Amino acid sequence: MRKNIVAGNWKMNLNFEEGQKLTSEIVNMLKDENVKDVTVVLNPPFVHLHSVKKLIGDTPNLFLGSQNCSDKESGAYTGETSAGMLASFGAKFVIIGHSERREYFAESNQLLTEKTKQALANGLTPIFCCGEPLEIREAGTHEDYVKNQLTESLFGFTTEEMSKIVLAYEPIWAIGTGKTASSDQAQEMHAALRSHIASKFGEEIAGNLSILYGGSAKPDNAKELFSKPDVDGGLIGGASLKSRDFVEIVKSF
Ligand code: PGA
Repeated sequence: MRKNIVAGNWKMNLNFEEGQKLTSEIVNMLKDENVKDVTVVLNPPFVHLHSVKKLIGDTPNLFLGSQNCSDKESGAYTGETSAGMLASFGAKFVIIGHSERREYFAESNQLLTEKTKQALANGLTPIFCCGEPLEIREAGTHEDYVKNQLTESLFGFTTEEMSKIVLAYEPIWAIGTGKTASSDQAQEMHAALRSHIASKFGEEIAGNLSILYGGSAKPDNAKELFSKPDVDGGLIGGASLKSRDFVEIVKSF
C-alpha cells in the first residue's frame, strides 16, 4: 500500500530550546487532529535526535528521521554518524542525497548507493532525493537527468530492497526559493519517475512507492500538490520550522 508521508527537514536550524518547543507544539497539535492516513516524520539535526524522540514518545503516526547518515558502518570516520547509531536512537527514516548534500558536500550517485545500503541494513527507510537544477529544466532534459540519478544510485538494489525506499523529487530551482513547481510539473515528473522504477522493478513495486514533492511546499499549495495522483506527500523545509504551517500541510490530504 502506498503511504502518504509528510517529512519535515529542519536543515541546520534551531537551537535546543527552539527544537524542543517546535516538537512539543507539533506533538500537541497532531494529538488534536485526525491524521490517521499520513505518516509524519521530523528530521532534525543529529544533536536533536534524542530529545526530539523523547517528546515524540508514542504519538501515533509521528516518527523520527535524520537528514543524513554515513556510508560506512563504523570506525575511524571523525564527524560521521552511522545508520546503526540513528536506528539505536529511535530513528525510522533517513534523508539521503538531498541536493544540498550533493552540491555542498560533493555527494555522488555512487556514494548515495552506499548510504542507502547502510540505511536499509539498519532498518531505516531511506527518503532518497533527486531533482534537477534550473539550467537542466530550462534545457528541457530534466526527466532524463533525474531518471539517471535513480538509475545510477538505485538500480543495483533488489526488488525487496527497492520496496523499502521512499523517493523525494526536489527540483533544485524550487528549494528555499519560494518558487514552487506547479502541481502539473510535479505530477509529470512523479509519473515519469514511477514508470522508470516500474521499468526496472515492476509495476507492483512502482505502484506502492511513495514519491514526495519538495521545494517551497506551503500550507497554501500543499492541497493542490497532494491532489495529484502521483504526489504522495512532501519533504518540507522552511515551512517545517513553524508548527502551525507544518501541521496544516499534514492536514492537506
Ligand atoms: P523548502 O525545502 O521547503 O524550504 O523549499 C525543501 C527541502 O529542501 O527539503
